[in-house]
Amino acid sequence: MGITFNEDNKVFHLQAKDTSYIMQIVKDGYLAHLYWGKKIRNVNEKDMLVYRGRTSFSANPDDKDKIFSLDTLPQEYPAYGNTDFRTPAYQLQLENGSTITDLRYESYTISKGKPKLNGLPATYVEAEDEAETLEIVLIDSLIGLRVHLLYTVFEKYNVITRSARFVNEGNCNLKLLRGLSMSLDFMRDDFDFLHLNGSWARERHIIREKLTPGMHTIESRRGASSHEHNPFIAIISQDCTEEKGEAYGLSLVYSGNFLAQAEINMYKSTRVSLGINPFDFSWLLEPGQDFQTPEVVMVYSSEGLGAMSRTYHKLYRTRLCRGRYRDKTRPILINNWEATYFDFDAEKLINIAKEAKKLGIELFVLDDGWFGKRNSDDCSLGDWVVDKNKLPDGLKSLGDRINDLNMKFGLWFEPEMVSPDSDLYRAHPDWCLHVPERTRSTARTQLILDLSREDVCDYIAKAISQVLSSAPISYVKWDMNRNMTEVGSKLLSADRQRETAHRYILGLYKIMDKLTDEFEDVLFEGCSGGGGRFDPGILYYMPQIWTSDDSDAVERLKIQYGTSILYPASTMGAHVSAVPNHQVGRNTPLKMRGDVAMSGNFGYELDLTKFTEKEKKEVKEQVMQYKELRALIQFGDMFRLVSPFEGKGNETAWMYVSEDKNEAMVAYFRILAEADAPVRKLRLIGLDPDKDYLVSECEGIFGGDELMYSGITIPFLFGDYQSVVWKIKSK
Ligand code: DGJ
Repeated sequence: MGITFNEDNKVFHLQAKDTSYIMQIVKDGYLAHLYWGKKIRNVNEKDMLVYRGRTSFSANPDDKDKIFSLDTLPQEYPAYGNTDFRTPAYQLQLENGSTITDLRYESYTISKGKPKLNGLPATYVEAEDEAETLEIVLIDSLIGLRVHLLYTVFEKYNVITRSARFVNEGNCNLKLLRGLSMSLDFMRDDFDFLHLNGSWARERHIIREKLTPGMHTIESRRGASSHEHNPFIAIISQDCTEEKGEAYGLSLVYSGNFLAQAEINMYKSTRVSLGINPFDFSWLLEPGQDFQTPEVVMVYSSEGLGAMSRTYHKLYRTRLCRGRYRDKTRPILINNWEATYFDFDAEKLINIAKEAKKLGIELFVLDDGWFGKRNSDDCSLGDWVVDKNKLPDGLKSLGDRINDLNMKFGLWFEPEMVSPDSDLYRAHPDWCLHVPERTRSTARTQLILDLSREDVCDYIAKAISQVLSSAPISYVKWDMNRNMTEVGSKLLSADRQRETAHRYILGLYKIMDKLTDEFEDVLFEGCSGGGGRFDPGILYYMPQIWTSDDSDAVERLKIQYGTSILYPASTMGAHVSAVPNHQVGRNTPLKMRGDVAMSGNFGYELDLTKFTEKEKKEVKEQVMQYKELRALIQFGDMFRLVSPFEGKGNETAWMYVSEDKNEAMVAYFRILAEADAPVRKLRLIGLDPDKDYLVSECEGIFGGDELMYSGITIPFLFGDYQSVVWKIKSK
């Protein structure tokens, strides 16, 4: 287990639980990638790399060796311009204008544990013996450039993390034009490419397509990881299902612009790479300076997508998320946004809170509209001072009144933004991202504060800290409602303007670090117009994120199913909202809305004072049910049973199983009614075949084997938008 280096054949072998990752220092110090996949004991290095002479168009760095070309060598961190024509992992520009660099192996170290990445979120260990880290140093001695490739093996998981650090140890400036976090080559091309795609209110739908020759790219140029693409891809075998086949997951711990690519070249090898998007990016490295790339978390599964997801879920839940709430069940909340929008006063809020309390809800969240003169979304961002017209007695009084009901109090912020109509903007018009003499394009009538500036970051941290200290606030919703345009910073020199977007993200992380540290008892929830920045970078600071502004029960099936490819239920905010749904106008029963939202961090976002007694009774039962099941949902293993992305998409099912396999919860959803429907069974996964189970709503005893291999009968369902939840307990 762990990491070994064989001096004789120069092979590095990284072994995680059931995974091997193998590299070799080959001819002239190039670092080759030999293997990533199911664990093997050893490599026969005589067979691992077979060189074959190609046509005259294949170039050779060594004129005397016509069969050695970087274009066919599987590599770990390739350059462009010296015989490899594929997409490179990095590129630098020298002072003489050249972009040719040549990295060769210099040294390595192996150490226990996992070092932190300077200024960046990353997975971590709690004890040194949980992981081992290999650092390989590559050098371009002509220019004094060293690149440190960092690999950490989490021994109990099938996880290897990677990142790269560039250090300019020469005498001249170097400009980093491209510095991806990882690259690796598979000597095969029979893969599918899976990624998560969407838009506002339709986040993280699963896209799966066959890889064909050429480049397959997903990326963000929006300054945020975005609604459109998630910084994640999986390269999977064409026979890969939930339970079978190979899956190679690559997830970037970063919240800004990213690029993920898979390239099949003319020799039918597949190069995959992931990192900060080189588009509109560069980073000046003066002598002595360094640049750390974000981390990629690489998960291999030989047992299908389900096992890959469960590895990510466990790792992200326990070794990426941090803080007091990491291992705590999360409170059931009521949020006033869709209940009142901007139209509220203290009494209206208290009345909603009172109803919520009666039904067992634990946390009241005051959303947008409590500050400045914000009666619509066109002003006041940046002025974090309570609006006395709406809340004449202030936030403390409101918080105290909520606390008196024996509920916790939470508050919404959008700290990164400024409205042109705000005191902050009038005082500091150059504090936003902008380019001199160009239009400052607005979105939702707002501009983005320039977080690449330290003074701006300090202002935000102080302003938020003051509010949090002024009232009994136990929860913060951290929103971010637009993407970047006219990206530039007043304080950066001309040759550093293209650093702005990444410097912004570094500034954001610094503020989040400071505030989550200062207010360690506060539960922070990330948000970006719903799930526009649902990524591992944010999860390092905030253990949960608002999954989508779309809480229609049908839409949410795909959104939550897709999100679960990478992210655990404990990270997904999921609320029951009113009907007709505010995003799509659909009417679904309260039961289905509740059953869908219960598969995440449960809450309500509607005006409970308008509910009938019958509806309130149903809410009370849902709340009780969630309290009974939430530890299982938030910390159990998730198994996806029926995909809304396959077949007609009319059915979806998933389940959660406790670690000891004594408890499970199964949820089944059917969108449209079927006439004269056949009797069908739903086959479960993840139970103990040798245990006997009792199943709610069913008579008799089921063996775990029976539930998994034969299944459980789906009851007769009448009407559209139906759902069933079974609670399963071992006997
Ligand atoms: C976008 C969020 O996703 C919503 O939940 C809500 O907080 C609004 N912003 C408020 O402006």
